[in-house]
Amino acid sequence: MLKKTAIVSLFTLISASYMAQNTKTIPVYLDESKPVEQRIQDALSKMTLEEKIAMLHAQSKFSSPGVPRLGIPEFWTTDGPHGVRSEVKWDEWDQAGWTNDSIIAYPALTALSATWNKNMSWNYGKALGEEARYRKKDILLGPGVNIYRTPLNGRNFEYMGEDPFLTSKMVVPYIKGVQSNGVATSVKHFALNNQEMFRHTSNVIVDDRTLYEIYLPPFKAAVTEGDSWTIMGAYDMYKGQYASQNQYLLNDILKKEWNYKGVVVSDWGAVNNTEQAIHNGLDLEFGSWTNGLSDGHSNAYDNYYLAQPYLKLIKEGKVGTKELDDKVTRLLRLAYKTTMNRNKPFGNIASEEHKAVAKEIGEEGIVLLKNQGNVLPIDINKAKKIAVIGENAIKIMTVGGGSSSLKVKYETLPLDGIKARFGKQADVQYARGYVGDIGGEYNGVKSGQNLKEERSPEALLEEAVALAKSSDYVIFVGGLNKADFQDSEGNDRKSYGLPYNQDQVISALAKANKNLAVVLVSGNAVAMPWVKEVPTIVQAWYLGSEAGNSLAAVLAGDANPSGKLPFTFPVKLEDNAAHQMGEYPGNKEELAAGKGKDQKNPINIKYNEGILVGYRWHDTKKIKPLFSFGHGLSYTTFEFGKAKADKKTMSQDDTITFTVTVKNTGKKAGAEVAQLYISDLKSSVQRPAKELKGFEKVFLNPGEEKEVTFTIDKTALSFFDADKHDWVAEPGDFEALMGNSSDAIKTKVKFTLK
Ligand code: BGC
Repeated sequence: MLKKTAIVSLFTLISASYMAQNTKTIPVYLDESKPVEQRIQDALSKMTLEEKIAMLHAQSKFSSPGVPRLGIPEFWTTDGPHGVRSEVKWDEWDQAGWTNDSIIAYPALTALSATWNKNMSWNYGKALGEEARYRKKDILLGPGVNIYRTPLNGRNFEYMGEDPFLTSKMVVPYIKGVQSNGVATSVKHFALNNQEMFRHTSNVIVDDRTLYEIYLPPFKAAVTEGDSWTIMGAYDMYKGQYASQNQYLLNDILKKEWNYKGVVVSDWGAVNNTEQAIHNGLDLEFGSWTNGLSDGHSNAYDNYYLAQPYLKLIKEGKVGTKELDDKVTRLLRLAYKTTMNRNKPFGNIASEEHKAVAKEIGEEGIVLLKNQGNVLPIDINKAKKIAVIGENAIKIMTVGGGSSSLKVKYETLPLDGIKARFGKQADVQYARGYVGDIGGEYNGVKSGQNLKEERSPEALLEEAVALAKSSDYVIFVGGLNKADFQDSEGNDRKSYGLPYNQDQVISALAKANKNLAVVLVSGNAVAMPWVKEVPTIVQAWYLGSEAGNSLAAVLAGDANPSGKLPFTFPVKLEDNAAHQMGEYPGNKEELAAGKGKDQKNPINIKYNEGILVGYRWHDTKKIKPLFSFGHGLSYTTFEFGKAKADKKTMSQDDTITFTVTVKNTGKKAGAEVAQLYISDLKSSVQRPAKELKGFEKVFLNPGEEKEVTFTIDKTALSFFDADKHDWVAEPGDFEALMGNSSDAIKTKVKFTLK
């Protein structure tokens, strides 16, 4: 019999020798002690041509294959951008019927952007990324950063507004938050997908200066500052090439100028040409043989443009493998950050922290547009009876709207939130007022609501007015919804006005009760012909799972509103630049000739308004908006001190620092957003009256004062010179304007660039 010590040492010897053998046999691509680029080269050297090709395209609606033989995992993608989408069948858009795929819906990106708070953006990304991780997703299809060009764009609610600076600053922390979970973001839709109408059949014509100053900066920030590991191409065309296979956007700008090392993912069904897909910068093809939303085509994956057709071209010697290896290199690099990253966290779903994040972002994003006579916050001593009126007080909003539609653990409706907050002290009663959209299903996810209504519009209005008359407060909750032709993917809105006769209902309520607050749930600006009749207006966006609670907190004053508009509300549609100067939904003659109906007859959309988008247009042309970019009130008051600059003159490689004090002069703690705009006083080219170049949200107790500091360099003074293909800061005088809205500049200071 062997002695115990001998057994132990024999065991040690055997296991040590196994270990030694094992370490020797760990291939380089799996060896975490080796540099990633070396591991990639090793993996590449072991892959067959077929395995490489397989990696470039989908194997199901939302996944792409790895290399099973080598243990390189599949990639699983998911929408995005406000929560993790439910599971669909392998090859269909229909529900897979899982019971463990409900999640928390976060406020839509318009609401996030309206917080003007970069910390909120990080919290959002981190929480959402944790849910994606728990659901075992590797790529989150978002965030969306297409610039708000027209209030009719059905997808504006998924984006971050009209300003490239605000969007750039808000998108970076979101990306970092998501990716801290080992989940890649896919910032979308690159580029120029600024409307839904004709999204598959249009060609955008935009000058270089406008492209670089307005439409590209958020994408540039997302990849260069945010390091988004993937980026999604768009559906539309630019310079006659589809954006997801576009030499100019993907190769020249993204990969060359910005030195992007990540993966370009196509939008779903955005590829239609193998040669272009090979050569023009696309890396990963998804959704071909579908229209992106409803149509599917079983087992078509071998027919993808980057599948058999690509393999055939290589085998026939018609194309080499340089592009192929570059694409696979990028995909492997992504794998080491996501699927093959052993240090990633596990994630979680619907934690108390996630609910709190959703609620807080909702509260901070809500914008108090008008509050004449301080109708809000609701004075609980005076509120014996509160009337809640309007369909959006009871309508589920997380279902619908296109690919961002969600299957949620719960959604607190405005009426429920208001009842929970005020119900103990006051009698809260509801009347619908009008009927809008009674639908409640998207891709098989059902809201479970029955919103059918038999009564006539007159009867509904009569009931609402009677209730309003007998109440102390009236909270009207209306706006748009996620039905087709509203705030929804695939189509644009048909008109700027509120749908379903809401204007008439609001006017009637304004006559019935002075204590009226109109709450608009939407991701877009709307016309407000009743603006003067109504004392209080709240822009409440789509706030996700905690919608009702966030809204009730603001109505009660538990949360002091601090949101600011991320886009302008024009008085009428024609006041918007794209509608007055530019082309929408496309060139008029071509429209009349029936262009845009299919991909063989695309329509051109010329952005004649150029750089004058949003407030840049309104300010420069002196067209007074209904509510301006950056606008948002509070239940307290703030005062700005006198702006100061640390120098009078700066040189081209210098920085300049501005300071301004902000003081809470009211009786309630609250937050103000100090906004810095720069105005070029004299220039050889047209410049907008002013442009946002800094913002900071400051939290202040009553009487408290803080100093806000903005440091800028010449990039904040530059314009894009298309001839030089470079940014130019022209010497001369500038003005730094500081205030709490683009139309409320409180203080300014002049300086000179040498
Ligand atoms: C949308 C994308 C989305 C994709 C996958 C497309 O129709 O444009 O934003 O991520 O579908 O659902």
